[in-house]
Amino acid sequence: MEFQVLTLFPEMILEGCNNSILKRATEKGLIQVEAINVRDYSLDKHGKVDDYTYGGGAGMLMQAQPVYDAWIHAVNAKPCGGERNDVKTAEASKVRTIYVTPQGRPFTQEMAKDFAKEERLIFLCGHYEGIDERVLEEVVTDQVSIGDYVLTGGELPALVMIDAISRLIPGVLGSDESAQTESFENDLLEYPQYSRPEVWHEKAVPEVLLSGDHKKIELWRREKAKERTQKWRPDLYEKYAEREKTIQCLMKHKKENAYMIDSLLTGKARLLHSEGDAAVAVSVAGNAYQICCETAEQGKRLLRYVPKEARLVLHNCEALNEILQEEYGLKVGDECYQSVYTQHVSMPIAHKDIRLYPMEAIDYAVENYGGERERKYLINRIQSGEFFAAYEGDEIAGFCGVHAGGSLGLLYVDPKYRRTSIGSSLASYLVNLSLSRGGLPYAHIRIANVASIKMQEKMGLYVGNRTVFWTYRKENA
Ligand code: ADE
Repeated sequence: MEFQVLTLFPEMILEGCNNSILKRATEKGLIQVEAINVRDYSLDKHGKVDDYTYGGGAGMLMQAQPVYDAWIHAVNAKPCGGERNDVKTAEASKVRTIYVTPQGRPFTQEMAKDFAKEERLIFLCGHYEGIDERVLEEVVTDQVSIGDYVLTGGELPALVMIDAISRLIPGVLGSDESAQTESFENDLLEYPQYSRPEVWHEKAVPEVLLSGDHKKIELWRREKAKERTQKWRPDLYEKYAEREKTIQCLMKHKKENAYMIDSLLTGKARLLHSEGDAAVAVSVAGNAYQICCETAEQGKRLLRYVPKEARLVLHNCEALNEILQEEYGLKVGDECYQSVYTQHVSMPIAHKDIRLYPMEAIDYAVENYGGERERKYLINRIQSGEFFAAYEGDEIAGFCGVHAGGSLGLLYVDPKYRRTSIGSSLASYLVNLSLSRGGLPYAHIRIANVASIKMQEKMGLYVGNRTVFWTYRKENA
């Protein structure tokens, strides 16, 4: 991941990244940080970059020209020297540019995850009273704040974000470090932790932690996390409790609601609103929405939480299709049956040699799964670390993966290996992966794919009676 920071204080950025884990990540080539001094792009002979505000008011404003020219340099230059692109105008660039400002959207773990998917990010740090609006309009894609307080400049917020994003990049944290992370993402704070000695200042480590009973320890930790969250962050706890309640209600119709249950359990989607057994959620990755409902009236009420620019709505209510088409410009792309694995025990896997799918073999996947139009998607799946190959010796005998939305699938078995255990082993592998992540394993099967429906039933997955609808913008349907 490349970070380029447009700043008046480049040393602050370089110093901030030259310690501890960020330093190690830079040395390993996992991140590159370049600080670009906006002053170097001033056309003024004294290097001035600020001026008075039109209309009066206290303080100075950073001017558009030096910021724009520094940004054009960032877009075109390689952090380690050498020229890369030849972008002349802002429209031509696709680089995500984050303006750090107290006026921005509050920075969250979800945003950090989203930014971590980019290959490159540009940060723009303001000083003085801000930056001329015209340049912001041209280059900025995201405005982000690190909290409701005002700092003297954007360098510390940029460092905070670089730190939070970098630790999500595979390999940046060692396995010891990454172990202690995820509970915050489920709207709960971390449980209390203890190290040696067993007794300190006459305080003993809670007995359960010495018991060796992992199930008990897990339950204890969860209870403590809940207690703490309730006490210190009642706002978070309310969100957690609402989500838990909704999951319980949706569980009454697992086969109809599997996609939303799984997304809420694994943190892939955030609950927007629920009414008992009906709910609407948005994917944390972008503007993809999900609705689960029992009646058309519920569905219509929940649609109010979906903005008109949504690019995808997944739902299980046929009556919504007309509204989605007319009012949202969303058309049914796929109608699918849903199959669900309702047990908690892992499935046996007969074929043992299943590994991450290698990028070098991308052509094999493209050839056998949808052709060239799926290449980009398949690359994305391989990069996500959720796409797997079954091997016979050195040969790929089949593959499977988790779709971007969370359903299990992308299954293919080479004709040579059909009627062997490879197909069911790949499917079981995905089921077990989903269980290990605390999810509800499910798959979406196009209604015409009778063979796949039969296979799922044979494997012990339950196929629901109601179908689900994937509705997309017309151009993508
Ligand atoms: N610049 C000054 N204060 C800031 C804040 N709280 N967040 C982001 N950028 C800032």
